[in-house]
Amino acid sequence: MNQRILRQCGNDGLRVWTLARVDGKPNLIDETFLEELEDALASIGKDPVAKGLLIRSSHPSVFLAGADLSQLSRKSSSDLDGLLSRGQDAFAHLAKLSIPTACAIEGACLGGGYEMALACDYRVLSDSAKAVIGLPETSLGLLPGWGGCFRLPRLVGLFRALTIVVSGKPFRPAKARKLGMVDEIVPGELVEPAAKEWLARGKRSPGEFFFTNLWPVARFVSWRASREVLARTRGNYPAPLAAIKVLRKATFAHFDEAMSLERRAFAGLAKTAAARNLVSYFFLRERAKKVDYSFKSKRLPEIRRVHVIGAGVMGGGIAQWVASRGIDVVLSDLSPDALSDGLRTVDRLLGKARARGILSAVDARAAMDRITPVSKAVPLREGDLVIEAIVERIGAKRSLFADLEKRSEYDMPFASNTSALSIDSMSVAMTDRGRLGGLHFFNPVHRMELVEVIRGPHTDPAVVESLLGFVRRIGKRAILCKDSPGFLVNRILVPYLVEAAELWAEGWSADKIDEAMLDFGMPMGPMRLIDEIGLDVAAHVANELKFRLSHLGSPPDLLERMVGQGLLGRKSGNGFYFYKGKNRHNPVLNHELNSLRHKTKTSSKKEKKGKEEIIDRMILVMANEAARCLEEGVVDTPEDVDFGMIAGAGWAPFRGGPLRHADSQGLSQIVTRMERLSRKDGNRFRPCGLLLDLARHGECFYPNRGVVSKSHPATTERTK
Ligand code: NAI
Repeated sequence: MNQRILRQCGNDGLRVWTLARVDGKPNLIDETFLEELEDALASIGKDPVAKGLLIRSSHPSVFLAGADLSQLSRKSSSDLDGLLSRGQDAFAHLAKLSIPTACAIEGACLGGGYEMALACDYRVLSDSAKAVIGLPETSLGLLPGWGGCFRLPRLVGLFRALTIVVSGKPFRPAKARKLGMVDEIVPGELVEPAAKEWLARGKRSPGEFFFTNLWPVARFVSWRASREVLARTRGNYPAPLAAIKVLRKATFAHFDEAMSLERRAFAGLAKTAAARNLVSYFFLRERAKKVDYSFKSKRLPEIRRVHVIGAGVMGGGIAQWVASRGIDVVLSDLSPDALSDGLRTVDRLLGKARARGILSAVDARAAMDRITPVSKAVPLREGDLVIEAIVERIGAKRSLFADLEKRSEYDMPFASNTSALSIDSMSVAMTDRGRLGGLHFFNPVHRMELVEVIRGPHTDPAVVESLLGFVRRIGKRAILCKDSPGFLVNRILVPYLVEAAELWAEGWSADKIDEAMLDFGMPMGPMRLIDEIGLDVAAHVANELKFRLSHLGSPPDLLERMVGQGLLGRKSGNGFYFYKGKNRHNPVLNHELNSLRHKTKTSSKKEKKGKEEIIDRMILVMANEAARCLEEGVVDTPEDVDFGMIAGAGWAPFRGGPLRHADSQGLSQIVTRMERLSRKDGNRFRPCGLLLDLARHGECFYPNRGVVSKSHPATTERTK
């Protein structure tokens, strides 16, 4: 019995319930919680002297985090319906209490947690950085199923309710107040006194009038919301569409009818592959928070200061992120201009974080103050970590690390942010090669939560452990990768981009290729992505990888010709698309490129078949490379591959990642398709040994019906 509701009675008739878990973990709604809640409600209903109820949490950063998804995902349809009914009844009971009720919310109040808060008369939220509030169910392929679809439109109006539910976003205090989700925002220490003042007003008076809750207006706003969702998601995500329908109907329905609408829609969504994959992705993200590399015999001191060397795009981003997580940073660059540009980048990013309510003005200022810009070498001391983010040239990196080693008498870790160079080859000039590992952040650092932690053949396990601990501490999520070409994400992404360029060289138009992959669920088409990366950079990385991994396809010669003609993508104003003048933000297809190719393949009759062929080739080439990464031990598990690709490359999360998607297609089917393509289109489609083996034995990457394994192989204890 883990989840508890501790009940206190004051002499003044105030009843206080404190949400607490015996194990001190964040509060969740599971069956025990509902049992406790039912029990507490039964006794308060019989309490003749109770005058008001205040609900608070003992957890420092979580008020109530919503349903326990591990319990929810194991339920059969009928058990799920039972759990939903039980929660709906309990919250209805809470809403019907004759005494006023208020939630004093400090920290996260999400999903079912916010649905419980909605069942109270008042909600007071702390203004702390940890406070977030929202209904994220649609981002898990589900919808609010504990009365949220009924109560929210009555509290904030249908229009705002649609914004809150469809976005699935957690809102920070200022925005939550603006949307009407809470009654008041106050500093943390005043949350309870303020909630008590609200209680003193008695039960909440009947709801406000909302224009958007009038039938014809409601129809219009929900129709428009559906249209926007369809345009954005191309129909790949059923949950927001179902939520819009239920919210609209629930706005006019009687309570019981609305509850049954919610339950039916929830049960329908829970069966979809999208929900299963999105919930799995939730677990993958949780798992990536905990990656560690327990190593008993040696432990490096805790990192207290970080030297970021190179103040360019990545160095500036890393410095900003680390400093805003409370760690001192020394930022250096060879060029004073680059250093001041780097500081401007940091300042701009901190400004953005402040504007979006992620950091307070004081915290943003403090983060800036934590950064010391230096233009020459400073002494390294115990507790330091060096992150190198200089130009991608092996010679420059080698001499930098050799020099750093000479300057540091302490046993401190060094890390390179290289995208694809070998960590091992970078350490050749060092005496103790074990000190160097890799921390591959993604661009833009403040948005991308993934960091690939690279373990070279010489990297000391204590350094790996220290780097993983650092990633956890700065709130990023890690996968542990072997030092091999392109590590994980670029290794799988590059063949995909090369295949897109190959399709284009064969005559498919860039926008057809992009459309096909957007329909599949990628966040950006591959041709646009090549333009964003820069054709010169993309061609260089592809050639480098091809040099080190002979099975990969070479980028088509046409790409080199485009580079030769100065068509570099967005940075030159033209690539596969045209970005100049009014097309800067709204690029159009660069038709001039057609003269470079001999043929085009855009016959409308073949359109559907063409799209299938494009998707098939693009996805198969990725699945093959993903399987190869597993086979070669680049990462340890299919979970690492799928999490890495979704978090690092935006791979369609509702499809679960390249390996989970391959499982869903059937590996023997996939192998047959690859073999057919390899006969026609060459070696790059030849299925790797692991795929062949699994297909031959009728096995798959996730034998346990797709369940995400909780433990991480890296957590099993290793000794040197
Ligand atoms: P950048 O060209 O924007 O910045 C590099 C900076 O390093 C320049 O300001 C340069 O003056 C400085 N520099 C060069 N040699 C130096 C030295 N010996 N000591 C001190 N400073 C020196 O490069 P960017 O894009 O920030 O990339 C840095 C590293 O991060 C590269 O290894 C790159 O492959 C990697 N990376 C880049 C990503 C991107 O999207 N730009 C993504 C992930 C990794």
